[in-house]
Order: sequence, then C-alpha cells, then structure tokens
Amino acid sequence: MPNPTADFRSDTVTRPTPAMYDAIANAALGDDVLGDDPTVEALEAYAAETFGKPAAMFTPSGTMANQAALMAWLRPGDEILCEAKCHVFNYEGGGAARLSGAQPRPIAGPRGQMPLEALAEALAGVRPANEHLPRTRMIALENTHNLHGGAILPLDYIRAVRALADREELIVHLDGARLANAVAATGIAFREWVAPVHSVSICLSKGLCAPVGSLLLGDDAFIAEARRARKVLGGGMRQAGLLAAAGRIALESMVDRLVDDHRRARDLATGMATLGYLDVDPEAVETNILSVGVSGVDGGAPALVAALAERDIRCIAFGPERMRLVTHRDVDDDDVARAIDAFVALAP
Ligand SMILES: Cc1ncc(COP(=O)(O)O)c(C=O)c1O
Repeated sequence: MPNPTADFRSDTVTRPTPAMYDAIANAALGDDVLGDDPTVEALEAYAAETFGKPAAMFTPSGTMANQAALMAWLRPGDEILCEAKCHVFNYEGGGAARLSGAQPRPIAGPRGQMPLEALAEALAGVRPANEHLPRTRMIALENTHNLHGGAILPLDYIRAVRALADREELIVHLDGARLANAVAATGIAFREWVAPVHSVSICLSKGLCAPVGSLLLGDDAFIAEARRARKVLGGGMRQAGLLAAAGRIALESMVDRLVDDHRRARDLATGMATLGYLDVDPEAVETNILSVGVSGVDGGAPALVAALAERDIRCIAFGPERMRLVTHRDVDDDDVARAIDAFVALAP
C-alpha cells in the first residue's frame, strides 16, 4: 500500500518498529529517578560500551542532552565557539545563555566545519588570562550537520579540533544527534568518531526510529554533573524503561539500514537537480538531508512547500528561498518518485 502522505519534513516523524513495540510491551521497569529502572540502566551501559565512554545518561530529547552537557561543563560568562548554523546556537531557544549563562560565538564554516585558522584566531589572546575577555571554555561541533544538508565532519577534522582544544585546555562537545548517519555512511564506528571529544549527545528518535529519547556520554564526573542538570530541567523520568527499551533497539539494530535513506536522498537530489529551479548537488549529498535552494517560484520556498502539501508531499521551508527534505525509514522509493513527479509538475 502506498503511503497516503510522503513525509519528508524530518526523520523525527519515523514511527517505532514492530520490534520496538514488542520491547516496550515486555520491558522490565523500575523508577529511574530512584535509580533502579533496569532497562534504562542496560541501555546506558550498552551505549557506554558502544561509544567507548565511561558513562551515559538517557534524556527525553537531544536538546536536553546538549543543554545538560553545557550546564555540566560551563559557568556563567564562559564562551562557546560553535559553527554559525549549528543546532545548539540556532534551535535550542537560547538555552546556552538562559541555562548556563554562556555566550556562544558563532563561526561560519563550509559544510559545518569551522576553519581551523578561524578557531585559532578566535583563541588568540585568550591566554594568558585577560579579565576583559570571556573565558573561552568549549568548542561545540555537530555531526552530521543538519543545516549544512547532513554533511559529515571528517574524523581528521574532529581530531585536529581536539588538538587545538587541548592546547587551550578547552572542552570539545559533539552534538551527534545524527552521528549514526555518519557511522552508516562511512563504516567508521561510534567509538572512533567520539574518541576525540569529551562529551557527545546522540538522538535515538530520528533516523533510528525510537519514539522518544537521546543519550549523553562522557566521563563519570561529567555524567554525574549532567544528571544534576537533567534533574533541574525536569528530565528525570520514572518508568523510562518503556522508552529505553525502544532506544536499545534503535542503537543496536537500526544503524545499518540508514544507508537506504542515504541512497534515497541521493535519488531525490538527482531527480530534482535537472529541473533548473532547484539548487541541489547530488554529489554533495552524504547522508539523509537535502538543503535545496529554490528560485523563480512565485512566493518562493513557502509557496512551493504549500503546493507540495496539496499533493500530499510534505517538507519544510527554511526561509524564502530554501527548503529541506529528509529521508527516513517511513518514506520509500515510491514516495521519492512521487516527489520528483510533483517537482516536475510544479516547475515555474
Ligand atoms: C543536530 C541536532 N541536534 C539536536 C537536535 C535536538 O533534538 P530534539 O528534537 O530531540 O530536542 C536536533 C533536532 O532536530 C538536531 O537536528
């Protein structure tokens, strides 16, 4: 049966798999706030092992995982160097300032990579300590990078950032909401990706299809502090094993299939690239996100998105001339073909 709606808005729309429903129904439960939900504990232990980090914490969302990390690492007045289009800076409600009292310093970077020279320049003069300057404390990375069309930060780049951070005694935090896509696309394991960073968040509820949940990982002292932050944020959940049961399946068995999403994203880009009014380079599509420039359409990207919705194809406008399409387990090859047909029909 074809899907009634081809929903390319986000990989967060994915529904739990039948195996997840089974696991939810059969999960052993306790009270995670009291520290005895066995399914949450098992997920955290499995994640710590998989990522090669000493400790892990389950959170309701990726935003909470990132913000708890910032709260654990930072003090008021601290500065975070982050890529200008990153989620932590743009889409977390100003949380860095509001919750940690920290000041993000955005640095533009092609494909999500802040140039190393720009980072070095931003750090020039930070030491010896000067009371006029904010205390630069963290470099925040995002992999894969959402607003840069699912671009993968190369491992060598992450290692180089860590080397720079070590020289200045900075923390490197990785927003790895879609790190699983980087794992699937490259064959490089989670533990290799995160070895150069002090802390990492990963979402189980995006392409990995869990209904709710993220993880934050790092060393024991950091996770202990992040648990305090999660409590403050209201993120202590009682019988959270229901969610962790699905999250375990997400991490254990949903990573490899992401290559199908990546192939469909490239197919979609290939179909769109020939139409003349949509700016997308299939060669640049590394994972499951298409960031597409729109030109020559009356009303721009919002009008095009509305016209697609009338044909039961959903995606999101990002500003007047850009739209985003994301592939995931709940869109299939027919949906991709339907979307391309619609773009052909709607060409100005
Ligand atoms: C790169 C990135 N980081 C963090 C998040 C936050 O995840 P959540 O929606 O679970 O708060 C998202 C969500 O889209 C994201 O794309």
